Amino acid sequence: MPRQTNMAQQEDVFKKIVSHCKEYGFVFPSSDIYDGLGAVYDYGQNGVELKNNIKQYWWQSMVLLHQNIVGIDAAIFMHPTTWKASGHVDAFNDPLIDNRDSKKRYRADVLIEDQMAKYDEKIDKEIAKARKRFGDAFDEAQFRATNGRVLELQQKRDALHERFQKAMNANDLDELKQIIIDEEIVCPISGTRNWTDVRQFNLMFKTEVGSTAEGTSTIYLRPETAQGIFVNYLNVQKTGRMKLPFGIAQIGKAFRNEIVARQFIFRMREFEQMEMQFFVKPGTELEWFSKWKQTRMAWHQALGFGAENYRFHDHDKLAHYANAATDIEFHMPFGFKEVEGIHSRTNFDLSQHAKYSGKKIEYFDPETNESYTPFVIETSIGVDRMFLSVMCHSYCEEQLENGETRVVLRLPAALAPVKLAVLPLVKKDGLPEIAQEIVNDLRFHFNCKYDEKDTIGKRYRRMDAIGCPYCVTIDHDTLNDHCVTLRDRDTMEQHRVPIADLQSIIEDKVSITSLLKKLL
Ligand code: GAP
Repeated sequence: MPRQTNMAQQEDVFKKIVSHCKEYGFVFPSSDIYDGLGAVYDYGQNGVELKNNIKQYWWQSMVLLHQNIVGIDAAIFMHPTTWKASGHVDAFNDPLIDNRDSKKRYRADVLIEDQMAKYDEKIDKEIAKARKRFGDAFDEAQFRATNGRVLELQQKRDALHERFQKAMNANDLDELKQIIIDEEIVCPISGTRNWTDVRQFNLMFKTEVGSTAEGTSTIYLRPETAQGIFVNYLNVQKTGRMKLPFGIAQIGKAFRNEIVARQFIFRMREFEQMEMQFFVKPGTELEWFSKWKQTRMAWHQALGFGAENYRFHDHDKLAHYANAATDIEFHMPFGFKEVEGIHSRTNFDLSQHAKYSGKKIEYFDPETNESYTPFVIETSIGVDRMFLSVMCHSYCEEQLENGETRVVLRLPAALAPVKLAVLPLVKKDGLPEIAQEIVNDLRFHFNCKYDEKDTIGKRYRRMDAIGCPYCVTIDHDTLNDHCVTLRDRDTMEQHRVPIADLQSIIEDKVSITSLLKKLL
């Protein structure tokens, strides 16, 4: 992503990424022919390959690289008591507020967070102006500590942050409304401050199972995959003869009736999670929490997007059952945003399920001859947010020497939807046949695409735009020397290589294994 200097430019880049996703078959609005469905998206022919590669990278890093982590695939529908036990029926809420004039509904916490972001933007603007004025001599830390305007804005922001945290921790809905009034926050649509009171709104989707004749019961679409792991703890521990510490991993859909659906696939109503619950001996959880923080950060950074684009954000407000929690945030075009959560959830979930099911959910420790309820460290990452972070970092508009602009997705080769494009220079003289033979040979090893339409230059651009790391061109010399021209997406360098060597040159660089090896 080109370095941007202000918010407007960043928004512009983001818009381009969204339309690129549609134009090149990565992400479409759901039910597009009916003008879409809010906060629901479909993955296209290239998107699904990239998404599958992300999932494979995560799955293999968990299940292949750890002898003590196994996977499951639980159903989306679960017994309704699950959600009573987990606390989601009573407490999985967002604080909502309506504007009476526009009739639009907002999340009160998001309105306030946006207000804090506005203070940050104003501070950034002051800094950018000063940097321009002072040039190389500019000292940002000193400017922040001494400039009157910046200090005033920072003080207002900090005071707002403190007040907001207090209101959220105390679940004080009146105070949230008062903050909105005191900060003079207006509805972005009507521009007025005609607000209703703040109310709680449960995010779970409800549906019914059973026919009317038999009677129906209300069930929920799961809002997280984690509970499918907790309710299977005993099954997996016993049948897998698992010893603590051990983990259960799962990838699957989750559903939340998000009111503020924004930023494309960042906040969706139907999305996918990759979650791993790691069961440990009580008292060792904070040590494991710290280990998983490092392990997960290493997983992200192995993609090569630069350590400066990630940060931990430790939670100020801990859920009542958690004793530590952090987010891994990634630098998106709209700021640092949460991609993954790592939580030390104590024994809350297993104890609650034991209470509500009446089953003993414990672990017998053969070393100490005692039984106890394991504590849990959870790592929880959204596939779609991860996808968005990969797209945002990889999208690049590049000025070429000949004055043209090329759009290239600099995807990590192991995640790219297509690894090799096979391009006959012309559609005759036996060149397409050789190209097809290459595809037929290599398709067992990685995803290859045959393309014979348009000029070779246009075909290269199409492949750059979907992030294909390698192209080979078959020309008339190939008929005699059995070599092809191999082109590298990023450097655009080309060199001749024997057809017989293609597999060994490419396979290692584009495999998920190449990423996994960086983790060891
Ligand atoms: N089991 C813990 C849990 O669900 P969370 O922080 O609510 O924790 C974990 O969600 C991850 O799921 C987030 O870090 C994010 O990547 C993803 N996620 C959550 N809500 C989402 C949404 N509405 N759209 C897309 N991804 C979402």
